[in-house]
Amino acid sequence: MRNASRAARREGKRLGFVPTMGALHEGHLSLVRAARAACGIVAASIFVNPTQFGPNEDLAKYPRSFERDRKLLEEEGVELLFAPPVEEMYPAGAVTWVTVEELSGKLDGRSRPGHLRGVTTIVSKLFHVVEPDVAFFGQKDAAQVAIIRHMVRDLKFPVEIVVCPIVREADGLAMSSRNAYLDPEQRRQALVLHRTLMLVKELVDRGERRAATLVAAAREEFTREPAVRLDYFEIVDAGSLDPVEDVSSGALVAVAAYVGTTRLIDNVVLPCNSRAQS
Ligand code: PAF
Repeated sequence: MRNASRAARREGKRLGFVPTMGALHEGHLSLVRAARAACGIVAASIFVNPTQFGPNEDLAKYPRSFERDRKLLEEEGVELLFAPPVEEMYPAGAVTWVTVEELSGKLDGRSRPGHLRGVTTIVSKLFHVVEPDVAFFGQKDAAQVAIIRHMVRDLKFPVEIVVCPIVREADGLAMSSRNAYLDPEQRRQALVLHRTLMLVKELVDRGERRAATLVAAAREEFTREPAVRLDYFEIVDAGSLDPVEDVSSGALVAVAAYVGTTRLIDNVVLPCNSRAQS
């Protein structure tokens, strides 16, 4: 992988990189298309990273569809695909971690201890192997985006981070590989995440600026879908992930909830003193 990447860069090509865990959907493909539009050569990785799953999480059953994914990436014009075995990324005796202190314990990092440390560790390793000029991530994983930006800044990775908007189904559900776990009734119940974010956005559009009031309205909306268990609903600064009291200067509204045993996340960014964008 590194040889191929260096050869492309010697030819003066800008290398765009899309890291994935496979089970690709339109969200991933939007990242690939953004990379394709901005870079002379595009690399993608497929690696289900064991260290970002907790002991009771879905590592074993995480959807794997390598041949389908490989074909999709080829159709999008991806030139380089990196799909290493686990032992290559975590050789026996590997004990080195990349931890972004404080941030790794917020939002998903609080609910899923060790998850964000697993993400920053594997993304560092992938960056070292692929040596991209630009890497593309989806806004849906807002905590991941914040922590990777921080890591790149702190460790001086020579990589530009580009964040692409959330891709949604026609009814608003954010695309996720985990949506495949939902049965038809759960698929309907899952819409409460997007509905609640839209409610918050509407309240902000009508002039509400107090985060506590917005969170209370969101929690109230969740009670209308009792089968869905709220993990967190928070309004935070998009960079530090610290809670904000007032959304006038912009904020990240982030939600995580369990539909059955499936944990889904979604978010909306409230821009500074203007209307919200989903
Ligand atoms: O967003 C993902 O799919 C994963 O967290 C990533 C960035 C590929 C690291 O395993």
